Amino acid sequence: MDLNEALYTTRAMRRVKPDPIPDEVVASMMDAAIRSPSGGNSQNWRWITVTDREKMAQLGEWYAEAWKQLNETFYAGRVEAAREKGDDSTLRVMNSAQWLADNFASVPLVVFPFHRNDPSGASIYPGVWSLMLAARGHGVGTCLTTVLGIFKHDEVCELLGVPEGKGWTNAAAVTCGYPLGRWGLAKRAPASDVTFSESWGNPPDWPEIGLPISLD
Ligand SMILES: Cc1cc2nc3c(=O)[nH]c(=O)nc-3n(C[C@H](O)[C@H](O)[C@H](O)COP(=O)(O)O)c2cc1C
Repeated sequence: MDLNEALYTTRAMRRVKPDPIPDEVVASMMDAAIRSPSGGNSQNWRWITVTDREKMAQLGEWYAEAWKQLNETFYAGRVEAAREKGDDSTLRVMNSAQWLADNFASVPLVVFPFHRNDPSGASIYPGVWSLMLAARGHGVGTCLTTVLGIFKHDEVCELLGVPEGKGWTNAAAVTCGYPLGRWGLAKRAPASDVTFSESWGNPPDWPEIGLPISLD
């Protein structure tokens, strides 16, 4: 797949089919993930791929609880505020996130990345993103989620047999599956609105550029 197409269209693809992902595809996604950089090339990571339906049933219950907790705390009033403002983009994200909370147990594969001895916490996410880009190349949709780690970290670690007292921290749960919907452009505030030139507040003087991919 063209690099730009992967970069521009790797979206949060939460709605996925339950169809299993072949082992060679999973192996290839993980092989791409571990090519990513880490501080000092420490590679202080472990990854657990989960497909077992019993484990997924339990994770699904916890995910739904965690999502509910998030909505009652950090996200309290978010949907109502978005409705009042007519903020369709937030409403779409919340609907899609609710779908995942309702259907987590049917997701065919979830990858749990773990890291340790990384004070910045930054070394794991290049690998997570590489995993997601590689998945995109195989036509597999992914969503980086952190809500389980926020509210159910220790329960998840115990279920997955993560050794205690060794410093391993779960960084995310990346859901993976073949999309129910269509790929599309990741919509974001323009780079020129969020990038300064030389010092804070100074807008860049960039030429107009078009999208490097064509959209159907
Ligand atoms: C650090 C991080 C944590 C996230 N946690 C969750 C989550 O717990 N549940 C979820 O459904 N989506 C989660 N997301 C997905 C974001 O909502 C999504 O990337 C964002 O809305 C952009 O979506 P788009 O690429 O489809 O436009 C997370 C994304 C990031 C980067």
